[in-house]
Amino acid sequence: MGDLTTERSSPTGTAPVLVASNRGPVSFSAADDGTLTLRRGGGGLVSGLSAIDDPSAVWVCAALGEADRRAARQAPDGRLDLAGHDVGGQAVRMLDIDPETFARAYNGVANSTLWFVHHLLYATPTAPAFDAGFRTEWQAYRAYNTAFAEALAAEAAPGAAVLVQDYHLSLVPGLLRTLRPDLRIGHFSHTPWAPPEYFRLLPDDVAEAVLTGILGADRAGFLTRRWALAFAECCADQLGATVDRDALTVTLPPAGGAATGRTTRLGVHALGADADFLRERSHRPDVDERLATLREAVGGRRTVVRVDRTELSKNIVRGFQAYRHLLRTRPDWRDKVVHIAFAYPSRTDLAEYRAYTAEVRRLAEEINAEFATPAWQPLIVHLDDDFPRSLAAYRMADVALVNPIRDGMNLVAKEVPVVSDQGCALVLSREAGAHAELADDAVTVNPYDVIATAEALHTALTMPAGERAERTKRLAAAATALPPQQWFLDQLNALG
Ligand code: G6P
Repeated sequence: MGDLTTERSSPTGTAPVLVASNRGPVSFSAADDGTLTLRRGGGGLVSGLSAIDDPSAVWVCAALGEADRRAARQAPDGRLDLAGHDVGGQAVRMLDIDPETFARAYNGVANSTLWFVHHLLYATPTAPAFDAGFRTEWQAYRAYNTAFAEALAAEAAPGAAVLVQDYHLSLVPGLLRTLRPDLRIGHFSHTPWAPPEYFRLLPDDVAEAVLTGILGADRAGFLTRRWALAFAECCADQLGATVDRDALTVTLPPAGGAATGRTTRLGVHALGADADFLRERSHRPDVDERLATLREAVGGRRTVVRVDRTELSKNIVRGFQAYRHLLRTRPDWRDKVVHIAFAYPSRTDLAEYRAYTAEVRRLAEEINAEFATPAWQPLIVHLDDDFPRSLAAYRMADVALVNPIRDGMNLVAKEVPVVSDQGCALVLSREAGAHAELADDAVTVNPYDVIATAEALHTALTMPAGERAERTKRLAAAATALPPQQWFLDQLNALG
């Protein structure tokens, strides 16, 4: 890995299109005898990238665990495709970053700092406290971003288009521009962006580095106009940048660092659900099987379904409190409804996430203890990952509860209407990016208002079947307006 003084490198690579993200399209696990097994991941980026049918496109990602690191080390320059792995349509370069550096960058800065800032997650009387430990993590984040920039610089053909993803890699566009001024660089934020007052929690030099890092791109993409404008306002507040809200551009004043005087265009690309994939996948036998099991457990009652990562910003605890309030204040619903909540493990290296998972479990037990009867379990919770089971729950849901504190988009809100068998009423937080497109046919909630959320659940549960079906049709149309492949191509084309 190089140090932080980046120098121009000559364009020797051959890739015309590159994607960079922390989590790549594949991951490895190791068996007891050391054999490596490859697993292909899903998600918007994977299906988006399948739009470019070009084997010379390169995806640069980080090795996330020990098995990934071994696979990366065994491959020439980390190029998994060249080591004979079946990684999908494109080439994949997996970066073997020193585990301690990786952990500090990913856990310390990306997930415990930038994620917290953008999702407004701090309990501010005690956190954050940017101390000496944070400075070590910040150095690691810079080294990790530098490793990405150097790998991209090495792989990119002259004038190539590079699409850098998310808050893990906010310094990459600026670093890469210094190394390879010939490249066309895009950055895309999959998160919300913090309002200026909250972004200012960051130490000034860190805030500036993050903003000017992204402004190193020709174009910075966001999931909604609201997040794009929040970013622009942070640039104005922190860097004295000039913002054109109509043209969506940010221009740095002269003498403002690496990206001085440049204008960066902002773009809004509202990633949609992948309808073709979801409709086909949700009717396979493994989903039908799970549907039958769930139906048996529910026994003809109404269902409220939620599916999330066990993620602080998803607001699972207040969702349960709202359900409890509904059962307490509207006892007619007792024995008539089942809340199905799937919350699969995420970021378990972080103490906050482990504590949150414990709280989800504790509250679920408390609710079942308060209301369950021999014939009725009011709340069914699974804290493990089972994708076909999630699709089965989507198909049968009468109500979907999507109540994040704040969310870049929230694809569950878009997937449920696409997959729903009979129509599903959507209770949706006004702080989710998806709300910008789905508000007209959703039941909107303030995610902090437990009583209002309980009322919204009642409204959704009592929505007439015909209205529910009509709304679901319109929700599905809005949710699939920009399929992942088009989402990806639009960004590529916008780079010119
Ligand atoms: C969010 C981020 C993604 C991230 C995902 C899962 O959607 O925007 O970049 O990959 O969460 O988080 P993880 O930490 O497991 O990669």
